[in-house]
Amino acid sequence: MPTVLVTGGAGYVGSHCCKAFARNGWDVVIYDNLSRGWRDLVRWGPLIEGDLNDTEALKRALSETKPQAVAHFAAFASVGESIHKPELYYHINVAGTLSLLEAMRLTGVGQLLFSSSCATFGIHDAPIVEATPQNPINPYGASKLFGERMIRDFSAAYGLRAVILRYFNAAGADAELETGERNFHDPRVIPQAIRGAMEGGFTFTINGRDFDTRDGTAVRDYVHVTDLADAHLRALGWLGQGKPTEAFNLGTGAGASILELANAVEKVSGRKVERKFGPRREGDPPSLVANPEKAERLLGWKPAHSDIENIIRTAWAWAEQERARA
Ligand SMILES: NC(=O)c1ccc[n+]([C@@H]2O[C@H](COP(=O)([O-])OP(=O)(O)OC[C@H]3O[C@@H](n4cnc5c(N)ncnc54)[C@H](O)[C@@H]3O)[C@@H](O)[C@H]2O)c1
Repeated sequence: MPTVLVTGGAGYVGSHCCKAFARNGWDVVIYDNLSRGWRDLVRWGPLIEGDLNDTEALKRALSETKPQAVAHFAAFASVGESIHKPELYYHINVAGTLSLLEAMRLTGVGQLLFSSSCATFGIHDAPIVEATPQNPINPYGASKLFGERMIRDFSAAYGLRAVILRYFNAAGADAELETGERNFHDPRVIPQAIRGAMEGGFTFTINGRDFDTRDGTAVRDYVHVTDLADAHLRALGWLGQGKPTEAFNLGTGAGASILELANAVEKVSGRKVERKFGPRREGDPPSLVANPEKAERLLGWKPAHSDIENIIRTAWAWAEQERARA
């Protein structure tokens, strides 16, 4: 079986993709320093504990495992943190990605999947296509855009072939609850809204009610992590067929506002979401919605699990399991 080396495979999106890869004919090896990942979510292949910035360790891992492709998820991924500690984002997301590209070049591994983000685009009203200008408004988005740029330059110079996948908002959990989101560092909006319904005494804060959107709260395009995993599988297939470096926006094309999310949590759970309004967060655009037409046309990708109620149902079930575990 071909091997895929997965950086960041102990994290949220990476672990779901490891499961999909392992279920679909790939040997999976995870490379992660566990700084924000979880040993018990490493379930679909062996873990090599190592840092992205350690190019020698990466070269050793690549030489020993001889992967056909690398799937690169390892990164820090919090917009707010990136504004206050930009050095972390340039060190890990930019220098770390350069370290990986160097290790791949020096060991002759020529296929790459890269987790990029809608945060590379900045502020746009209309659904975002791949050709929409990328003007990030925070260091996280900038760090991901640098990653994309380096990948394109390595593709041109060294024949690397890569698929850049720009997720809008990853959400939900594995249907069998073998993995899920466990981001205690900077909990995202759906886990917070769920807490607001599940935990007495916790109030869900909605940041900003004066955005220029249908109900004044921020609109985002939530895509189920299982659908993201399917896109990664298809992207591996794309590279396996010898196709060139390409970028795809992964979203549903339909956004949900934060208020709509909170209402969906109430509908799914039958419980009230304790909520209050707070100020806008720095660097938060009003609306970010993908136009996923290119991924459908070229990869045959169509989100099948991303209706908001299914997203909340799986995230709720995972949160309940996590509570029972604690
Ligand atoms: N979650 C989202 O909504 C979202 C949206 C767009 C893009 N992304 C991108 O997807 C990728 C995965 O995001 P996630 O939400 O799963 O994050 P996560 O924090 O759950 O996972 C990141 C993983 O990378 C590992 N890691 C971090 N720094 C490392 C280093 N220096 N060396 C080795 N391993 C390191 C962490 O331990 C963790 O396991 C990231 O690249 C992120 O930028 C995520």
